[in-house]
Amino acid sequence: MINYPEKLTLAQTPTPLYPLQRLSDQLGGPRIWIKRDDLTGAATSGNKIRKLEFLFAEALANGCDTIITSGGVQSNHCRAVAILGAQLGLKVHLLLRSDIAPQPVGNLLLDQLAGATITHYSVAQFRSLDSLFAQWQDHYAELGSKAYAIPTGGSNGTGMWGYISAAEELAADFQRHGIAPSAIVHATGSGGTQAGLMLGCYLHQIDTRVKAYAVCDDSDYFSDKVRADLQQWQSQYSPETDTSVLQADTCADYVGPAYGVAGEEIFTTIKQLAALEGILLDPVYTGKAFHGMMEDIKRGKFSRADGDIVFIHTGGLFGLFAQQHHLGYGDSDSNQ
Ligand SMILES: Cc1ncc(COP(=O)(O)O)c(C=O)c1O
Repeated sequence: MINYPEKLTLAQTPTPLYPLQRLSDQLGGPRIWIKRDDLTGAATSGNKIRKLEFLFAEALANGCDTIITSGGVQSNHCRAVAILGAQLGLKVHLLLRSDIAPQPVGNLLLDQLAGATITHYSVAQFRSLDSLFAQWQDHYAELGSKAYAIPTGGSNGTGMWGYISAAEELAADFQRHGIAPSAIVHATGSGGTQAGLMLGCYLHQIDTRVKAYAVCDDSDYFSDKVRADLQQWQSQYSPETDTSVLQADTCADYVGPAYGVAGEEIFTTIKQLAALEGILLDPVYTGKAFHGMMEDIKRGKFSRADGDIVFIHTGGLFGLFAQQHHLGYGDSDSNQ
C-alpha cells in the first residue's frame, strides 16, 4: 500500500493507451503501444501536469501565493505552470534561459497569454540558478508574498509522485489489455519522469525495463540526476524503501547537435508519424526519443521477441510551432 501525498486533480487521466499497428507492421519489430500523456489537458498537456498535481498541492499547503520556476525559453513545464497558476489564481514568475532575443511563439506565447511574469537570463547567468531562485523568493517575501520554488522540469522527490502514480495507471492499462510490455520508452530531460517511472514500476511490481532517450547531456548525467531524485524521495517520504537497487537505463545516442536543436532526421520522423498514425511529436523531446526508439528497432535492439513495448508520449506540441520553419512547408512569416 503506497501512501501518496496530497494532490490536486488537474490532469485529464487516465490517458489512452493503444497500439500503433501500422508503424509496428512497417518496422517488423515489437508491437509499439502509445500512452497518450499528450492528452492530459489542452494548453496544460504533457507529462508536467502529472508532477504539478503534487507540487501545486504542496505549494498551497504551505500557504504560498506565488510560484517561481525555470526552464528553457520554450519550456513545456513553464507553460504548464503559467496556465495552471492562472487557473488556480496564483502569481507565476518564470526564469527563462536563452542566449538570443526570443520570439513570442509556441510555449512562450502561451506563458505571456497566461499573464506570467517572465525574466530572461543568458546560459551563463543560468549557471547561478539557485541564487536567482533565492533572490526572487526574498523579493516576494519583502512584498509580503510567499513564493514556492519548483525546480526545472518539476523534477524532485515531490514531482516524482506524478509518474509513480502514472505507473499505477499503466499497471491497470496493461491488465485491461492483457499485455506485459518488455519496455517502457520515453524522453528524458530533467530526469523526473524517468525517476518516477522507475520507482513507480518497482513499487507497483511492474516487471519491465524503463528505457529513457536523452534529449540533452549524457547517460552519466542522468544516472546521477535520477539517483539524486530517488534519494531525495526516499529521505522525504519513505526511508524504509531501498531505492539504491534502481539503475537508470539511458540512451544518449540521439541527442543530436544540442538541447532544443534537432537534425533533419527528427523532422522526417515527425512528418512520417503524423501522416502514418496521426500522432504529433515535437522536435525537442518526443521527436528525438521516438526517432531513437525507431532506429533501435531497425538495429535489432528491440525485436519481435520483445513482444509489446510502450512509448510514453509526454506532449510538447507547442514546441513544434516554434520550429515550424524546419518542416519545409514554406515561410511561416507569410501566413496571415
Ligand atoms: C514534452 C516533454 N517530454 C519529455 C520531457 C522530459 O521530462 P523530464 O524533464 O521529467 O525528464 C519534457 C520536459 O522536460 C517535456 O516537456
